[in-house]
Parts: sequence; C-alpha cells; structure tokens
Amino acid sequence: MKKPLRSEAWFGGTGKDAFIHRSWMKNSGHPEDMFDGRPVIGICNTASDLTPCNAHFRQLVEPIKRGIYEAGGFPVEFPVFSCGESNLRPTAMMFRNLASMDVEESIRGNPIDGVVLLAGCDKTTPSLVMGAASVDLPSIVLSGGAMLSGWFKGKKIGSGTDVWRLSEDVRAGVISMDEFLAAEESMSRSPGHCMTMGTASTMASMVEALGLSLPGNAAIPAVDARRARLAHLTGRRIVEMVNEDLKLSKILTRAAFENAVKVNGAIGGSTNAVVHLLAIAGRVGVEFSLDDWDRFGRDIPTLANLMPSGEHLMEDFFYAGGIPALMNRISAALRLEALTVNGKTVGDNIANAEVYLPDVIRPLDQPLVAHGGMVVLRGNLAPDGAVLKPSAATPALLEHRGPAVVFNDIEDYKHRIADPNLPITAQSIMVLRNCGPKGYPGMAEVGNMGLPAKLLEQGVRDMVRISDARMSGTAYGTVVLHVAPEAAAGGPLALVREGDEITLSVSRRELTLHVDEAELARRRAEWQPPVALQESGYRGLYRRHVMQADTGADFDFLLGCRGSEVPEESH
Ligand code: FES
Repeated sequence: MKKPLRSEAWFGGTGKDAFIHRSWMKNSGHPEDMFDGRPVIGICNTASDLTPCNAHFRQLVEPIKRGIYEAGGFPVEFPVFSCGESNLRPTAMMFRNLASMDVEESIRGNPIDGVVLLAGCDKTTPSLVMGAASVDLPSIVLSGGAMLSGWFKGKKIGSGTDVWRLSEDVRAGVISMDEFLAAEESMSRSPGHCMTMGTASTMASMVEALGLSLPGNAAIPAVDARRARLAHLTGRRIVEMVNEDLKLSKILTRAAFENAVKVNGAIGGSTNAVVHLLAIAGRVGVEFSLDDWDRFGRDIPTLANLMPSGEHLMEDFFYAGGIPALMNRISAALRLEALTVNGKTVGDNIANAEVYLPDVIRPLDQPLVAHGGMVVLRGNLAPDGAVLKPSAATPALLEHRGPAVVFNDIEDYKHRIADPNLPITAQSIMVLRNCGPKGYPGMAEVGNMGLPAKLLEQGVRDMVRISDARMSGTAYGTVVLHVAPEAAAGGPLALVREGDEITLSVSRRELTLHVDEAELARRRAEWQPPVALQESGYRGLYRRHVMQADTGADFDFLLGCRGSEVPEESH
C-alpha cells in the first residue's frame, strides 16, 4: 500500500486545522483537486536582486512548476536566505549555516513532500543541500547555470580569475586603470553565475557528481534554452521521486562522496568544495573526512582545461560534453554503482557520454595536471590539516622552504603590503592569520593575498602563501588554505613570528614550522585569544558554535539529520 504523504497531515481531512491550511492556500486560486493527496513539491528559491548570480531564478522557476503540474504534483515556491558572494559582508560563508537553518526549518515546518533546490551562487548550493539533508525528504538540485563567456578586446575573460589577473596587471603597470575598469561589463554579460570553474561551477559539478541533479546540470549556460528544458524535466522527476520515496540519504552515500572528490580533481575544482562536502556529509552522517580528499583525489588527473587552472570557460565545457563526458573519461576510477536522482546509476548516466572538444576536456594521457586532486598537508603548523590545490599552483613552489612574513590579520596585511621597506623577497612565505571561521569571522576568501607591488614589478607572479582563510574558487597560486586549528582558536599559526623558517612539501604532504617545541610552548603561554566570543547577535552565535575547517565549518548543533517529523499542530 502506498505510504501516505506527509502533506496529508496538513491538507487531508475535514477538521478545523485542515480547513485553515486549505482555505488560506486557496486565496491564490488553487482549485479543490490540488488538495486531493497529490505530492506537494517545495521549490526552494534563492532568487534575490542582491545575489545577481541567482536573479534569473524568478523566470527559471516557471518551467519547474510546469513539470511538477504535468507529473501530477502541486508546486509551492518559497524563498530562503540567499547568500550572494559578490555583496555580502563580512563574507557569504558566514551566512551559509544560517541559510541552511532557514532551508531545513522551512522544509520541515511546511506541508512539503519533496523539494527542488534552486541554487547557483557559491554558498547557495551547499546551504540548500545541507538544510535539505538534515530533513531527508526526496530532493533534487537544479543549478542556475553559468554566465556566457566574458570577452574583452578579443580575448576570453573569466569571472574572478581575470579580476585577480587584471588587478595585478594594473599594480604592476602592465595595463591602465581605464582598461581595468572597461573590463567590468565585458566580464558579466548575461544572467548566471561565475563562468570560470570557480566555487559556483564547482558546486554545480559536485551536485551532479553526487547524483543530486539530472545529468548535464552543471554545464548548461544559464541563458541556453536547454537550462529551462532541464528545469521542466527536474519538475517532472521530483514528483516521481516522491512516489518512489527516493530520499536524499539514498543518494548521498559514501560512494557518492568518493565520486565527487574524484570529479573535483578532474575539473580542477575549488578548494571551497572541501569544506562544503565535509559539512554536507556531517548532515547525513556519512563517514567522510578531510583525508578522504587526498586519498581519493591523489591519482586523479585534471582534465578540464578551464580557468582558473586552464584557459577555457563553462560555456566551452558545455559544448565539450560537460560533466557526463568528463566522468566517462575517468569512469575507471568511479563508483559506477552509485544511485542518482533519476533512479539510474552513475554508470548508466555516463555510459554513452562523449567528449566533443578534446582541448577542453583533455584525454587521460594529456592531462592539464597529472595529479590534480586536492592535497591535504599536515605538520606542526597544521595539526588538523590544511589544503592546497595543485592545479592552481606553480609546480616549482610545491617544494619550498623560506622565511615567514607574518600578517596578524587582514588589516595588518592591508597596512603593510605596499610598504617599500617590507622585508620580503620571492623566497619569503607570506603568512596570514586570524582569518579562519572564528577569527574573521566566516573564513573569508583572502588566502590568495596579493603580492607586494615591488615584487610584481620585478616580474614575480606567485609566492607560497599560508593562512587559515579560504580562497575564491576563481583564484590561483601556491596557496595553503584552511589551516586547522585556526589562529583564533589557538592553532600553531598564531605562534609564527617574522623570519621563522617554514617548509612546504607537497610530495611529503608536509607543512612544518622550524621552531622547537620549547620555544613554541613559551610563545603559547603568552598568546591571548583575539576574538570576543561573547559578541551579541548572529556574529556571536557564529563564533561560539562554528567548527573548524577540517570538519566543514558547520555549527556544532547542526550536525546530523533530524528528519521530517513535526508532531505538533500549529493551531
Ligand atoms: Fe555568485 Fe561567483 S559571485 S557565482
């Protein structure tokens, strides 16, 4: 016998409460048969004028609704906190967990049987998946799609990546300020999210690799008619998923996470995915650790020739075959038995996928980077781990020893970086601290701190940089990120002093501060925590409850799945 839908607890029956639930919904003109026991499908919408990457979702929601109606469901759209990367201060990441709470409680508290998660900008995707995972109803992701390729003076320019590049060129005197400003409208020329393989495209790729979206979801441009077609099919499919009781926890298995790590290596994906996937795994209770990123990504070559690691953009990736074609290329490494939202396995979905542009999705024997997976470093400077993305780094700097130039926080960096007397050379290692989850707060994307102008003028374009911060997925450089524990939580990063020698060895997975234990103990005794944990409001709550980067920077009280049951009636 078919399991009763949870929405029937609101809309079924003849009592007072059912009257209330139906009557108020009917003020939108819904006829009686919308309440006849058909699946009610929530469309969790992150559309916002302040999240330009998601602003087109007001239109994209329409084909989703068509698909839901067509399959016999009842679509109900609801807004949730929209974490836009380009405007939010101090950093959108500080609001990812808040948004996930909004999503979780909005789904659980309402008459919803299944949900479409409509996301695009960097943090909107993980916040929606985290929230939905803690409820565990049938759920499917539709990404909003990337912007069309940027073009400036006859050359492709990519979101973020070329902002960093052009701003360094201005400081180095290679281009004029007028040229720099003229690139603005050429970079962002259509609806959609960043069209480099930054965090937004990475997270869209991650949901596809995890099996949470229909095949092809990650790469279709926002303005391509096939995005609306996919939206229509997504609407149809979620109704079937409710009928099949295909919950999120059946998709988000360990095999799915292993596949996602491997795909991340093959796309040269964002380091932010490390934190987000750990947080998602924490919600579903799947065993998945920071070390799994290194273990499963280690031998994966980067095949996607996309900025920031390579030269092309998401539009090219779509024409080349997208994620199904890329997964087909690395299929020998994948867990092909993993189930996906369309009811088929990964193996079924990618079996016939072809690469159409071999310079965009390279053959296995001509990779962009031979070992593209995320590197997890440990040592006395990062006892709980740190992360480096080899595909974005300079190979010659992956084994490096040098003296530290220490910036105590981002303000200290801003004050001193332009000082011509700053004692820094190309061999120095730039250390930035107090920018982690508690310290900033929100673990800002400042880890790829710009190099000093005096070195840029000498032609230096990369240096080893170490911090407890994150880095934009669109950025590049030999940048060690997510050092855990962070300085503000008393991690050893807090104890580094100007001139201390540090070794980075990617081959040994090592990050070592060459200061003996007795001296470190002396420094530790003098250390004072810089952060007022008793701060009021959300910032205070965030600082008190955020966990460290190595476990996903979620709130300690949000770990796990709390299910969909709400025993209490509202009236
Ligand atoms: Fe929204 Fe890049 S700023 S995707």
